[in-house]
Amino acid sequence: MTGTAPPHLMGHLAPVADEIDAVELPVDGALPRELTGRYLRNGPNPLPGEVSAHWFAGHGMVHGVRLRDGRAEWYRNRWVRTAALEGRSFVRADGTFDHSVGHANTHVIEHAGRIMALVESSFPHVLTPELDTVGPDDFGGRLTTAMTAHPKTDPVTGELHFFGYGIRPPFLTYHRLSADGELVTSAEVAVPGPTMMHDFAITDRHAVFLDLPMTFQPQLLAEGMPFGWDDAYGARLGVMPLDRPGEVRWFDVEPSYVFHVGNAHTDAAGRVVLDAARYGAPDAVAMWGGLGSDPAGPAAAAAATGTAHLHRWVLDPVTGAATETALDDRAVEFPTVDDARVGREARYRYAVADSGGGAAIIKFDAAHGARTEHDLGGDTVAGEAVFVPSAAPDRAEDDGWLLSITTRRDGSASQLLVLDATDVAGPPVAAVTLPRGVPSGFHGSWIDDAALARR
Ligand SMILES: [Fe+2]
Repeated sequence: MTGTAPPHLMGHLAPVADEIDAVELPVDGALPRELTGRYLRNGPNPLPGEVSAHWFAGHGMVHGVRLRDGRAEWYRNRWVRTAALEGRSFVRADGTFDHSVGHANTHVIEHAGRIMALVESSFPHVLTPELDTVGPDDFGGRLTTAMTAHPKTDPVTGELHFFGYGIRPPFLTYHRLSADGELVTSAEVAVPGPTMMHDFAITDRHAVFLDLPMTFQPQLLAEGMPFGWDDAYGARLGVMPLDRPGEVRWFDVEPSYVFHVGNAHTDAAGRVVLDAARYGAPDAVAMWGGLGSDPAGPAAAAAATGTAHLHRWVLDPVTGAATETALDDRAVEFPTVDDARVGREARYRYAVADSGGGAAIIKFDAAHGARTEHDLGGDTVAGEAVFVPSAAPDRAEDDGWLLSITTRRDGSASQLLVLDATDVAGPPVAAVTLPRGVPSGFHGSWIDDAALARR
């Protein structure tokens, strides 16, 4: 990209121009031998010469690093071969979305032994373990809405809970995949209007929906994203018993925006406790402006992604009471949790921070209200830190590693960083030198070989 590129295509966000393969990558330190699988990460990457109108609008590209027996066997990157990549628009002539087209640029997960690239405007796109695209999947025609990029796997049942939102009714639909990948439940959830609902939460018995004031505003499409802050919409969190799909109790909350949930659980009193990275109203407005075509430069983008704070809501479906508490004063994004604790009370959260002058991978300890940081210095930014458990029986919650792709701020180089999750502030256990700068993107997953073998 030239110096005239918009901020979301510059520096560590600059797209790469091609697909490459590299084998036997250099490793500093020692990769844990039990890490046998793939770390996959998705993000927007427009085609060469293409200028996406918004950071969120580029074609999906998945970067993968294959680890086995203490070696980094390969790196490869592949665009998700969507119809959009071939030039088809996902907006039909009548303004509705063609869910078989979307950009598939936000997340990449495994369920029932299959790898899926996700974006909230379309069906999932199935990938092979080598990152070739199989195609969009509507689960045998049963999925009639888009699918969020942030589904949640119940660690006990293995079911995948998710939702789809639309700009025309039904605005919100809850869905559930069985552990073997069959779409078994879909139920409409009544909401006042169409909003950009990016994430949600589950507990062992509830789903939690975030009906927040980032509403569909078609006149904004020219600026890249047809959603904007709407003071009049209000803000609600909805609690739905998983055994009564579609029946939601709503709680009015202070207007705010949330891209990313940390975790949720239902406590012994039946109250739902939700943690998320929350943008207060002024920060939400500033963040949204900074993400778009704001010409203020990369500093604006850095500031925009650095104003959310971990926050807790406690919702009591019996009394109707809702309380809110700020959990920490450090601005963070991309909160993660041990997948085995999704929907259950969890002591630890992980997140990344970028104050513009310095970036860090952060661990929060709810038991002590403590925070430890792995400082990356001023020249490097951290991608989402994914927790990978050790194989030890009866392991402690943080017995495992954090995997994150880091990128030089100028986009020139990247590493796959492996941190000991029990000692986040300590030196990395291992750092794999990747053969290129990997643009900072969105979300990814560690996919163990054993998970793929389940297919
Ligand atoms: Fe996300």
